[in-house]
Amino acid sequence: MKKKEAFKFEFESYSSIKDLLVEDQGLLNSAVEAATGAYAPYSKFRVGAAVLLSNKTIVRGSNQENAAYPSGLCAERVALFSAAANYPKETMNSLAIYSPDLKSGEEVFSPCGACRQVMSEYEIKQFADIRILIMNSNGGIWLIDRAQSLLPFAFRFPKLK
Ligand code: THU
Repeated sequence: MKKKEAFKFEFESYSSIKDLLVEDQGLLNSAVEAATGAYAPYSKFRVGAAVLLSNKTIVRGSNQENAAYPSGLCAERVALFSAAANYPKETMNSLAIYSPDLKSGEEVFSPCGACRQVMSEYEIKQFADIRILIMNSNGGIWLIDRAQSLLPFAFRFPKLK
């Protein structure tokens, strides 16, 4: 028997940072600041990320590149791994990302597959969703309420859950 299956994916969009909760505004501003720490001499594409923890600490990350290209890491994973390593008992509630280097017309970027995999697994580890906030080049914002929405069929070890 053949059956059609489907995923439904919903997210919110905001036209301005002012339309967000004050806490989310602060987190996005942290992502903007974090982008100044990017080391991206090869791609020239700087990215800032900021993770809000349950104890209200904000952990920042930025992309770090290397002449041996695959050795570099995205801003999201720098922030997520740093948060997990330094605050293993806290829950990651939200992750904000921003790039000052989007070209006009590109408007928005979203996390790479590897970062989605990492976010998705931390949601399972902490038994709680991670909200994702992405600011585009026009100041508009996408809010995705859980990382797993961005990666249907993510790989996971069956025993991990
Ligand atoms: N990058 C990020 O840091 N986050 C993303 O979501 C997309 C890509 C980085 C990786 C690399 O340093 C540069 O942007 C170009 O791909």
